[in-house]
Amino acid sequence: MTSLERHLDERDLARSLRADVRDGLAADPKRLPPKWFYDARGSRLFEDITRLPEYYPTRTERSILTANAAAVARITEAKTLVELGSGSSEKTRLLLDALLSRGTLGAFVPLDVSESALAEAVEGLSVAYPGLSITGVVGDLTRHLRQLPDGDSRLVAFLGGTLGNLVPAERAAFLGDLRATLHPGEWLLLGVDLVKDPAVLVPAYDDAAGVTAEFNRNVLHVINRELRADFDPLAFEHVAVWDADREWIEMRLRSVRAQRVHVGELDLTVSFAAGEQMRTEVSAKFRRAGLAGELAASGFALRHWWTDPRSWFGVALAQAAPIPGTTSAARP
Ligand code: AVJ
Repeated sequence: MTSLERHLDERDLARSLRADVRDGLAADPKRLPPKWFYDARGSRLFEDITRLPEYYPTRTERSILTANAAAVARITEAKTLVELGSGSSEKTRLLLDALLSRGTLGAFVPLDVSESALAEAVEGLSVAYPGLSITGVVGDLTRHLRQLPDGDSRLVAFLGGTLGNLVPAERAAFLGDLRATLHPGEWLLLGVDLVKDPAVLVPAYDDAAGVTAEFNRNVLHVINRELRADFDPLAFEHVAVWDADREWIEMRLRSVRAQRVHVGELDLTVSFAAGEQMRTEVSAKFRRAGLAGELAASGFALRHWWTDPRSWFGVALAQAAPIPGTTSAARP
């Protein structure tokens, strides 16, 4: 019982990449959005990152979910699990197993921008979980939330700390959209990386083996291939800095020399000064109180909060609150 719904195709993706690169290279300072890291090579590099000794988020979140998946199932009694940015199916399986043992689950709806990654995940899970209805949705989580299939008793999982890739205004828009697609009482399970000593944070984004540097430069390979550009990736150095005021890690690419880059598909030539830095990713780190505030502002009530013994990573379980002035039951 599997199917795939497409809200995005190659042409939509090509169009949004062109717009993002055109806008980002015209901005001052220059920037590129992190979503373009993840072609096949970038996804492989990210998988490698998750196994690095310095990169604690993935294994820390996994330990929290292992310890608390049964509680999530007991509290939510979800009939449908929706997973945004399906990512590693390992964490998905922890939740599916817990919800199936609880006996409430009937459907799984993974949403991802990559049709190939999604098709592969759906295929693997349909073998492991026969009897579960699986509907893959090809879409962008900042654009297609409203098209998620309606259901009852849904639990939406957004794990891995990916919320931190959105800047505060984008987070508010995303959480507001998500709230609008849910009915009061439905659930959001959110994994977020927490504020901690920069001596731990910075190496997680600047590992000794240089895998994160290669991941960062991968966005240049993607633009070269997709938009016929001539970036020399080796002429850009990886930079990871902790912004203590905004409480986020910023990844940048620093031009090692003055250089000009041509983007064929955009008919565009851009200059980089020697030492010029271009932002490629924000990875925000959270505190419980701040996250509770952002959730409340978007119509979610934080109900449960789990963390690891060092408080390095947090998993929040929030519930869609009633929207003031409405009622889900018929008025008498
Ligand atoms: C997958 C977005 C959560 O921000 O930590 C890893 C991506 N970037 N190393 C993160 C990432 C650099 C990662 N997320």
